[in-house]
Amino acid sequence: MRDSLPVVVGITGASGALYADRLLRHLGKAKIPSPVVASKWGRYLLNHELGLELGKSPQETLRARYGPHLTWQPSTDMSAGIASGTHKTQGMVIIPCSMGSLGHIAHGVTANLLHRAADVTIKEGRPLVVVPRETPLSPIHLENLLTLSRFGATIVDANPTFYQGVESVEDLVDSVVARVLDALGIVHSLLPPWGLPTEISKDA
Ligand SMILES: Cc1cc2nc3c(=O)[nH]c(=O)nc-3n(C[C@H](O)[C@H](O)[C@H](O)COP(=O)(O)O)c2cc1C
Repeated sequence: MRDSLPVVVGITGASGALYADRLLRHLGKAKIPSPVVASKWGRYLLNHELGLELGKSPQETLRARYGPHLTWQPSTDMSAGIASGTHKTQGMVIIPCSMGSLGHIAHGVTANLLHRAADVTIKEGRPLVVVPRETPLSPIHLENLLTLSRFGATIVDANPTFYQGVESVEDLVDSVVARVLDALGIVHSLLPPWGLPTEISKDA
């Protein structure tokens, strides 16, 4: 039952649109309803890094790529369902998360629907997964991450693993997406659990 509830996906103007792309592909394959809200700069990065032209009908464009379970939520629409706690969800992922949106959310400043949906997720005690992307991190960024972590968010930084049969950029990205899905309790097979037999012998 819980699995049929939506997972809200927020996309901001941090580098790493491919992280959002791989997560949406997985949610689409798993037929999990996914309301998607992108900030103005999130939309820019989708175009700049993935070549996605959302045009006048972002929902049609994204459904063609990820499937019919996705719904597009304009970031200016504070009357959307995900702006209210009465709209039940499994939680929200912000992927990638800019330092700008991080600051807004950590301080309860809801300037767009993405911030508001995150605010609702926190107030309702639902899982919030934040995938920050910035380097180096300033003390302000670190404090904001700690603030959100103390409010119960899971911080899955955009920090891939390199040790589990990585052959492509997508494999690297999936190693982060796998941890996002883990944090939400969504079953997947993107990353084999550590400890399975490998080709490398311990004696080598
Ligand atoms: C090409 C490009 C890459 C960017 N990469 C990052 C980034 O990795 N992390 C970050 O915090 N901001 C990054 N920014 C800056 C944000 O887009 C900017 O702070 C913006 O105001 C964030 O707004 P949003 O959180 O509403 O998307 C980038 C901007 C551009 C144009």
